[in-house]
Amino acid sequence: MNQQWQAAFGQMTYGIYVLTAMMDDTVNGMIASWVSQVSYDPPLIMAAVHPNRYSHDMIVNGRAFGLHIIDQSQKALLGRFKGPDPGKKFSGMDWKPGKTGVPILKDCLAWFELQVIQHHQPGNHSIFIGTVVDADVQSQGNPLSTQDYEGMYVGKN
Ligand SMILES: Cc1cc2nc3c(=O)[nH]c(=O)nc-3n(C[C@H](O)[C@H](O)[C@H](O)COP(=O)(O)O)c2cc1C
Repeated sequence: MNQQWQAAFGQMTYGIYVLTAMMDDTVNGMIASWVSQVSYDPPLIMAAVHPNRYSHDMIVNGRAFGLHIIDQSQKALLGRFKGPDPGKKFSGMDWKPGKTGVPILKDCLAWFELQVIQHHQPGNHSIFIGTVVDADVQSQGNPLSTQDYEGMYVGKN
């Protein structure tokens, strides 16, 4: 195979989401774009998370994650949800624990709370498939996507 696969991956468009997790009373959040609906009956969503993310083992142990659709005006969240200090990520943010305990952010367009029903490791990311246990639409807007993420998205994250 030629090496164009990576450039071709870079042309794929994804939403940019805030994924949240909880384990032993510690909460965390990360930016995730490799996310998709995979069924509507039952409602299922998958997220691909690299094992070296702090969130990864929290999802494995907590068997749940939250997923937030954010507006284009919330690009600053990309910086907030980087790095190893979970406390800093949530400081000053309005959130509540969902049914599974994962953080649900108030300020977003819509959110899902997912119970993990399958965990696959087909490549260098784990795929977590979750069934929707709760969800809500908070406001209307323009969802942030990789098309708003100039120059930095190259098919790797
Ligand atoms: C636009 C964007 C999309 C990303 N998508 C993913 C993704 O789908 N899966 C993943 O494992 N990491 C993804 N990342 C990287 C994680 O957000 C980043 O490594 C984060 O710091 C992990 O946080 P944690 O180690 O506290 O869990 C993405 C980063 C950005 C900026």
